[in-house]
Amino acid sequence: MVNEVMEKALNKQLNAELYSGYLYLSMAAYFEDNDLAGFANYMRVQAHEEQDHAMKFYDYIIRRGAKVTLTEIEAPQTEWKGVIPAFEHVLEHEKMVTGLIDDLVDLAIEQKDHATNNFLQWYVEEQVEEEENAMENLAKVKLADGNPQILYKINEELSAREHHPIDE
Ligand code: FEO
Repeated sequence: MVNEVMEKALNKQLNAELYSGYLYLSMAAYFEDNDLAGFANYMRVQAHEEQDHAMKFYDYIIRRGAKVTLTEIEAPQTEWKGVIPAFEHVLEHEKMVTGLIDDLVDLAIEQKDHATNNFLQWYVEEQVEEEENAMENLAKVKLADGNPQILYKINEELSAREHHPIDE
């Protein structure tokens, strides 16, 4: 079982993952509104992935005999000043999430909760990928800055992204 301190912290992270999904869905809507369907698809898939991250916490909390407690999800930003500011936001957000996961790992170690520490290592690895993707996408849209043809190409490329369930 996880103790009350860990239960509260895991529930807080579940909320943070749902917020990430909400933020990326908001970005999807923003891109739809700006006729960038490929970018919108990418963010929609990303939102789906965040929902998966949240559900992984949900299932773990239950498996460890604790209670899932859902709380209010903060309203996300709805407008950005273009693709570059949007992808800058993604990178900043993912760096922030990495910090949250690192804090959770610290807490698990402090609480001598080895199982939770072990569970969290999946997210430690996932955050490496999340930041890597965010950096790559930001570099791409920066290259396209002011060049509609390159932006169109990236839009095409991002339209191919599909959602894949998490490998256990
Ligand atoms: Fe749940 Fe984008 O990390």
